[in-house]
Amino acid sequence: MNVLKRCIYGFSILSLALLTIECKGSQKDEKQENTTQKKNNVSIEKKEYGTTPAGQKVDIYTLKNQKGMEVNIMTYGGIITSLKVPNKAGVSEEVAIGFNNLEQYTKPNPYFGALIGRFGNRIAKGKFTLDGKEYQLATNNGKNALHGGPEGFHRRIWTAEEAKGGDVATLKLKYISKDMEEGYPGHLTVFVTYTLKNDNSLDVLYEATTDKKTVLNLTQHSYFNLSGDFSKPILNDEITIDADKLVPVDADLIPTGKLMDVTNTPFDFRKPKVIGKDIEAKDDQIKKGLGYDHCWVLNNQDKGERFAASAYNPTSGRLLEVFTDQPGIQFYSGNFLDGTLPMRNGGTYAHRTGLCLETQHYPDSPNQKDFPTTVLNPGENYKTKTTFKFSVK
Ligand code: BGC
Repeated sequence: MNVLKRCIYGFSILSLALLTIECKGSQKDEKQENTTQKKNNVSIEKKEYGTTPAGQKVDIYTLKNQKGMEVNIMTYGGIITSLKVPNKAGVSEEVAIGFNNLEQYTKPNPYFGALIGRFGNRIAKGKFTLDGKEYQLATNNGKNALHGGPEGFHRRIWTAEEAKGGDVATLKLKYISKDMEEGYPGHLTVFVTYTLKNDNSLDVLYEATTDKKTVLNLTQHSYFNLSGDFSKPILNDEITIDADKLVPVDADLIPTGKLMDVTNTPFDFRKPKVIGKDIEAKDDQIKKGLGYDHCWVLNNQDKGERFAASAYNPTSGRLLEVFTDQPGIQFYSGNFLDGTLPMRNGGTYAHRTGLCLETQHYPDSPNQKDFPTTVLNPGENYKTKTTFKFSVK
């Protein structure tokens, strides 16, 4: 009996000791996890930004990571009003064109930082036909429709839902576009989710559903100047585009319908090339675009999200890589910037002081039978993702 009691007693002491050791271990794990979480923490903060002339309240969200990247996004147009990333000396600076107040964004401007919908790029004569029915869109670019029309998604108020989880911060924006808004059929529910991560990348996830057959081509219209100095043109940046072909255009920047091989043309960016090298070349397409303002046909279209293009500024060392699952990318070298719009701290945005890399379907797809389709049917989920990743080299 005594032997048994002693055994039980001994066993209990041993178990207690083991339990204490284990508890201490897990306390340590928890502590470690908290420190890692703190170290990797990405924050998101909401502020009131202002009121539009129509009396709508606008909020602005600041997403910050631990690697010096900070992005400001407002509910008006889902616009990225500011994007700061470090240069090779570790100094964070502004790299996206923007204004310093809401009022300026509500005045006409070339879509600075905005979400574009329902249809990025041009639709010839603002017309297209679906199931035998012709639709006439609001036109705003001569006789053509550009970037969703004069009252496109870039001028709408989006509702926002923020979330923070460890090393990512997300801002999910929602907009419901009414049937026939700007001439497009279907009641469309759109979500755009911006996610800032600790590897200095910003994901843009676009999702949508419709209750009627429609066309859709969403994109993001930020103008980057990786030098961090907006008085400097982007002409010394090196561009890479993983595309063997281009969508050539007519004088109104409407696709001719054929695709063009980029070999031996100013449009060959398969190896990094300085923008300024061929931007003034005696070339028909360069003349029509007044520089670069074209959609490239990206390679590896069956591969899902893959590398599409990059821009590198050798002075600051900043590299921007763009990944997407989209078939095309519009590289626009800011040819229409004309020194009339105000910079944040004085001065104006001059010719070619910002560049856009807009992932998308090819322009005028609804009228081009050989281009990948942009039709969205009821019951289908539109879902596409683009990542803007910043680093230095
Ligand atoms: C187009 C340009 C246009 C600019 C601003 C770009 O996406 O390709 O032609 O001028 O947007 O509207």
